[in-house]
Amino acid sequence: MTVTSEQHPTEPSGPSSSLFVRACRGERGPRAPVWFMRQAGRSLPEYRRVREGVPMLESCARPDMVTEITMQPVRRYGVDAAIFYSDIVVPLKAIGVDVDVKPGVGPVLGAPIRSRADLDQLRPLEPDDVRFVDESVRALVDQLGETPLIGFAGAPFTLASYLVEGGPSKHHEVTKALMHSDPELWHDLLSRVAAISAAFLGVQVAAGASAVQLFDSWAGALSARDYARVVQPYSARVLDSVGTVPRIHFGVGTSEFLPLMAEAGADVVGVDWRLPLDEAAHRVPGKPVQGNLDPALLGADPAVVDAEVDRILAEGRGAPAHVFNLGHGVLPDTDPDVLARVVERVQAAGAPG
Ligand code: CP3
Repeated sequence: MTVTSEQHPTEPSGPSSSLFVRACRGERGPRAPVWFMRQAGRSLPEYRRVREGVPMLESCARPDMVTEITMQPVRRYGVDAAIFYSDIVVPLKAIGVDVDVKPGVGPVLGAPIRSRADLDQLRPLEPDDVRFVDESVRALVDQLGETPLIGFAGAPFTLASYLVEGGPSKHHEVTKALMHSDPELWHDLLSRVAAISAAFLGVQVAAGASAVQLFDSWAGALSARDYARVVQPYSARVLDSVGTVPRIHFGVGTSEFLPLMAEAGADVVGVDWRLPLDEAAHRVPGKPVQGNLDPALLGADPAVVDAEVDRILAEGRGAPAHVFNLGHGVLPDTDPDVLARVVERVQAAGAPG
């Protein structure tokens, strides 16, 4: 067992007393913990090697690959948390939805779900459907020791958008048309998807995940009014189902309704790069925040990246606690050495004076 420099040997140890989990609970430690969305993935040569010839969703169903890929960024960067290697569509695939993740594209369905008959495809997720998730999480918790594992799921709106559009969408117009034209079908769709996401998180938490993140990546396409009315209640159901571990709620382009994301039942509010963290903290009083370095800036001069890290750490002090992260996932062409430098800089920064 390793004792990190931040911990006194007599203090309780284990992931639940890690800097990351403490920050999620609103406790400001000696420094901000740091991890990155999509820290595992194509930016890492060791990931590309392991994935060679293995389709994305197949790799997610193989515990040996899941554990190796999840560990890769922990080993390379010494980040303060691991994120479970999987995908938001894994639970859909597990209940028999014809879905594939196409490289460079994202999730693509064999046939979109747009009618009541289509909806019947979406049966509830049973723990037995994702035994490989249970097995992978248990193996990871064992290997990670003091380092917490973050479990995750897609939020109902983001998952529903893939289901209804049949793939990635710029304007989400079929989804929005359905939401407004057939409220009853929308309600049934989101209810089913919420139950699936809740069950997926439940398996990860039961197997030992120390925190969860609900990804509502495309919620920023919505007006605050629509979000509040026909999306937030379903995300709230998912978050409410998570009993014991901290819940991070993240969206992209959601600055206009951060308070609604907090009220949905978040312990930590994830913030993209569009809003300074001190302003985000002001919008969600009392909540720890996570974010928010623009992933596209990682290709800028090192001095620029350093200055951004320092600015974000300073702005994060406006919240009860701050989990350092990007404003969205690591882009595939990111130089891993730049991320290593960010981790080093965040971890070297001391407690606020
Ligand atoms: O390191 C991690 O963050 C953990 C693993 C993780 C993946 N997907 C692995 C992955 C997580 C947390 C996700 C969540 C996910 N999947 C989201 C929410 C997060 C976000 O980025 O907003 C979304 C929207 C998806 C759907 C999805 N899956 C997309 C848009 C893509 C990218 C398609 C592409 O090739 O550009 C995927 C594929 C995917 N998921 C990859 C990885 C590592 C890339 C697969 C590859 O080609 O190797």
